[in-house]
Amino acid sequence: MKVPSGPEVFLFHVFALQEEVAYKTPVHWRRSTTDPIRWITADPCYNYTVLDDPRRSTDNRYSYELMCDVWVSWSGWYRLFIHGQSAQMPDTCVDKYSCGTNVPLWLNGGHPNVADGVVTRGVCGHWFNNCCRTPSSSIRVKACPGGYYVYEFVVPVTCHLAYCAGRGIFYPFGWAVGDAINPVVDDESSSVIQLSSPFLFFGRTYQQIYVNNNGHLTFNKASAEYVPYSFPGYESQDIIAGLWTNLDNSVRGFVSYQQYTSGDVLSQATQDINTHFPNLTFTASRVFVATWNKDAYSNSTITETSFQVVLISGSNSSFILMNYGEIAETGLPVQAGYDTINSTHYFVVPGSDSGSFISNLRNSSNVDVPGQWAFRVDSGPRNSLLKNNVVSFRVRLSSFSDLTQSGNTERLLQKMKQELVKYGLPNNCELKLRKLQKIKP
Ligand SMILES: *[C@@H]1O[C@H](CO)[C@@H](O)[C@H](O)[C@H]1NC(C)=O
Ligand SMILES: *[C@@H]1O[C@H](CO)[C@@H](O)[C@H](O)[C@H]1NC(C)=O
Ligand SMILES: *[C@@H]1O[C@H](CO)[C@@H](O)[C@H](O)[C@H]1NC(C)=O
Ligand SMILES: *[C@@H]1O[C@H](CO)[C@@H](O)[C@H](O)[C@H]1NC(C)=O
Ligand SMILES: *[C@@H]1O[C@H](CO)[C@@H](O)[C@H](O)[C@H]1NC(C)=O
Repeated sequence: MKVPSGPEVFLFHVFALQEEVAYKTPVHWRRSTTDPIRWITADPCYNYTVLDDPRRSTDNRYSYELMCDVWVSWSGWYRLFIHGQSAQMPDTCVDKYSCGTNVPLWLNGGHPNVADGVVTRGVCGHWFNNCCRTPSSSIRVKACPGGYYVYEFVVPVTCHLAYCAGRGIFYPFGWAVGDAINPVVDDESSSVIQLSSPFLFFGRTYQQIYVNNNGHLTFNKASAEYVPYSFPGYESQDIIAGLWTNLDNSVRGFVSYQQYTSGDVLSQATQDINTHFPNLTFTASRVFVATWNKDAYSNSTITETSFQVVLISGSNSSFILMNYGEIAETGLPVQAGYDTINSTHYFVVPGSDSGSFISNLRNSSNVDVPGQWAFRVDSGPRNSLLKNNVVSFRVRLSSFSDLTQSGNTERLLQKMKQELVKYGLPNNCELKLRKLQKIKP
């Protein structure tokens, strides 16, 4: 097949359907290996083989079955996943006997940025007491828009060596990294946590926070509430809900948290925010990570639900990341997003108000990173996305709606806004109708 030359990234206009509204919005076309038009571009960011082999996980230690990447016929570019979650090679030393092999291979020299294009990096194998005892062949690496990496793996020098897959979207958590662990009691909360510097949340600054076992964060007092209210709730509290529902960590799993003011976690946060909110030249000065790991629902002892809320502060701005892993379906009421006092600002992660579809959280995103949602929450300057811009949409109504009635137009604008926030529109933007034009009868 002849490969056409041309620009590397294609912008497709697609119709996205949501309830009664269909409209046009630009999204980056993501291709899969089954995509019949994958030959359309030679850019490895859009033309890779999915390598989802959980055995490669850095958590897989002293595996009985040993992998050897000499036995793999490598060809072209690969993107790493672990159980469907985007992953990447670790770029610091990995313990021997991890990644399902004897000598785990990690990327030496750090990951590139998107602007660096394709770079060549050494690969190190940890053996004996030497993190780079087995320097292997170099590989080529590329950072892709959307926050993932692709690797051109090659056959390593010998057995048993295997390429590792490290953290996906989750920030480090748990006992291993020294998290504080919440009481192992249903409907309990952490005690009050003093923040090392204030967290700015839509105009209010908070010096303290509570991590509640039922999947949410509150600032003024702990919450034992296991039945969420829907956002906007017009309530008298600010709340951040990773997944507010009737979780029970006394049956299974744990809830833990930690704040950081230096180290790798800050670099990770700086990198994530700059990827998701370009042009801010953001530097993280404090990161607070709260994790609900493999928790049960109150009436279901066998399911496991994992997610994380990360609060990130810079000198004058603040962000939240929500990271979703395995999320079990449930018949319980659920809610994910955030809501402020009197609901001046709120956001409902789409689909998070129904327990039957809640598993989809792990593959939805507003920043093109499956399972991750990112929001700026300081109500700082408007994102440049729409500044001085008039955006036009083509909207098709699948049911009759009289747009000469102002209430209907408002409802429609609200819906469009909800959808656009998924594509990066800050929640505090207001959409106003400038012109309405009928293009088809
Ligand atoms: C970032 O800034 C550059 C240069 O000022 C500009 O060309 C680019 O469009 C900006 N990107 C975004 C996403 O605003
Ligand atoms: C932080 O924000 C305040 C109020 O918006 C502003 O006066 C101040 O100059 C900002 N500081 C920095 C370092 O951006
Ligand atoms: C849990 O409770 C909800 C709400 O009462 C119910 O719909 C669901 O079926 C229950 N699930 C189990 C596993 O009992
Ligand atoms: C919230 O709304 C109530 C009733 O309208 C009002 O009394 C109160 O001052 C509002 N609170 C804030 C923080 O705006
Ligand atoms: C998410 O993944 C599930 C299967 O794991 C699939 O059924 C669902 O359609 C996916 N949702 C999206 C939005 O891709």
